[in-house]
Amino acid sequence: MTSPLDTDIYKDPGVARFYDPSHGWDQKRADFDYCASLAEDAGSVLDLGCGTGELIAALAQDRRAAGVDGAAPMLEIARQRPGGDRVDWVHGDARTVRLDRTFDLIVLTGHAFQVFLTDADQAAALATIAAHLAPDGRFIFDSRDPTYPAPKEQTKDESHRVVEHPELGPTDRWCVSTYDTASQILTYTNTYRVQRTGETNTASDQIRYTPYAELAARIEAAGLTVDRWLGDWHGTPYQPAAKDIIPIGRLA
Ligand SMILES: C[S@@+](CC[C@H](N)C(=O)[O-])C[C@H]1O[C@@H](n2cnc3c(N)ncnc32)[C@H](O)[C@@H]1O
Repeated sequence: MTSPLDTDIYKDPGVARFYDPSHGWDQKRADFDYCASLAEDAGSVLDLGCGTGELIAALAQDRRAAGVDGAAPMLEIARQRPGGDRVDWVHGDARTVRLDRTFDLIVLTGHAFQVFLTDADQAAALATIAAHLAPDGRFIFDSRDPTYPAPKEQTKDESHRVVEHPELGPTDRWCVSTYDTASQILTYTNTYRVQRTGETNTASDQIRYTPYAELAARIEAAGLTVDRWLGDWHGTPYQPAAKDIIPIGRLA
């Protein structure tokens, strides 16, 4: 099985520490808001590929919560955030992990589903969802639509911006990416250069884009069914060439 776990973008602590500052720290994330509203009537939530744990730590205030991630440095940040002590953090692989309990809601946010690069890996992740859903439980995840009419590749100049790290200060950040249309896999390299010291951290990774029909077939094959398809995290119904493909479903 291939996986980004074999590379180091999340496993390299020097890079992982820039995840939160680069992904809208202190800004509202629409995916988190949507999942929080879905969780309102859920007594338990599982976050697969929870990363630095911001969402699941917030949801753990009012319910039982578990967060699974394959990268120790991401979980280290998660454990230390406010509310982190309320979450059951699991260092594990979302394709194979089996907790001995089920959940009312299972979420994969931040396009975590796209880290599964092969059909077998996607099927394995969906099997994990099916194995952990309570009889009336629901799941939700997002995967970018390959037909969305925006460039997938970026150069250093196009992607450069300055992120503010709370301890390290202003940091130049850029992402160089190439897209292979045959495999629908994007390969990207993130670089962070701390302005004050010049310290530079670089890591590469890959994500897969999956067409809607293929995703729908794979979800069904996993014994799951989709009640609603969204095209973004604001609740817009899915239609072709949407930004995202977001299934909300349950056990078939
Ligand atoms: C794009 S980040 C999303 C993090 C978080 N869900 C968010 O919304 O910010 C993807 C996460 O998936 C994790 N990951 C990658 N492959 C994994 C696997 N096979 N099992 C569990 N976690 C994995 C990475 O370590 C990373 O934290």
